[in-house]
Amino acid sequence: MTELTELHAELTARIAAAADVAALEAVRVAALGKSGSVSALLKTLGAMSPEERKTRGPEINGLKDRVGAAIAARRAELEAAGLDAQLAAETLDLSLPPAPRRKGAVHPTLQVMDEMIAVFAEMGFGVAEGPDIEDDFHNFTALNFPPKHPAREVHDTFFFKTRPDGERRLLRTHTSPVQIRTMQRTNTPPPAPWISHGQAPPIRVVIPGRTYRKDSDQTHTPMFHQMEGLVIDRGIHMGHLKWTLETFVKRFFEIDSVVSRFRPHYFPFTEPSAEMDIQCDRSGGEVKIGQGSQWLEILGCGMVHPNVMRNCGLDPEQWQGFAFGMGIDRLAMLKYGIPDLRDMFAADVRWLDHYGFSAFQAPSPVTGLS
Ligand code: PHE
Repeated sequence: MTELTELHAELTARIAAAADVAALEAVRVAALGKSGSVSALLKTLGAMSPEERKTRGPEINGLKDRVGAAIAARRAELEAAGLDAQLAAETLDLSLPPAPRRKGAVHPTLQVMDEMIAVFAEMGFGVAEGPDIEDDFHNFTALNFPPKHPAREVHDTFFFKTRPDGERRLLRTHTSPVQIRTMQRTNTPPPAPWISHGQAPPIRVVIPGRTYRKDSDQTHTPMFHQMEGLVIDRGIHMGHLKWTLETFVKRFFEIDSVVSRFRPHYFPFTEPSAEMDIQCDRSGGEVKIGQGSQWLEILGCGMVHPNVMRNCGLDPEQWQGFAFGMGIDRLAMLKYGIPDLRDMFAADVRWLDHYGFSAFQAPSPVTGLS
């Protein structure tokens, strides 16, 4: 009996001391395995007298059962602790801030382009587009630039190499060639699917796009963006032009009153032609629109020249219209206080982080401008 009590005490201690499932398994083998200590005791039963076996049998079997139960209990304990440790180790702290991730930004030029389109869309304008690479006919001739006229030089045009057939392509110097592409209805399909077809009047479109001139300083870059406007209908006059542009400026700059003036100017494709100035205050290094005593030129405009109409197959006795063209980047600089035009195309991501817009700020006539 003492022998069994001692063995029980020893095994109980070893079971309790087993730090993991493997150590516990070693104790089990040492006690209940083929040549384990408890198994050895069980084997002695065979050699006993029936009398002796009657008392020893239940004692030894009882020990075997208790040791087995103790091992099973300890195993359950160790497995539960292991699961707890695993759960603790694999915990995610959802309160930690996420790792910073680079996010893109909408370039101010694109943002302003969208804002402008939204404002003109409210007034019933659609959008037309043309190619960056133009021919002399669309960029100059059809727009009533006489051959060899000095006005062609003013544009500082980027020309491509003259082709064997004598044609010399160029990078468009303004978006005005798309006026021609919009008015002229030919049987030749447009050079690319996104380029607008000619349409029958009445026409009301704005034409955003890239334009190119050999020019570079704080307010000029060789590539810049323009937004052209073209309206062709019956009985159109300067009053419509003035109202449209004044309404645009108020809406775009989100101010109630804008004082503007139309200064006579010259463009070969409009007659009369004008430049529109808006009143502003430039004191304090910042341009404030709608106040002050200075003038800021923002666009060129005029009534579509009868020759341009004729070049597009429209009868100027029946149709009248106006057109305008403005620099999108310059308006972006004004509206959002960007000091140097060249930075806009320097592809500096720090600049874009600062001046760029979130894609969620996309302007629309429904959600507002910005
Ligand atoms: N195309 C002119 C320019 O680039 C602007 C303009 C467009 C003027 C339409 C009148 C009418 O300067």
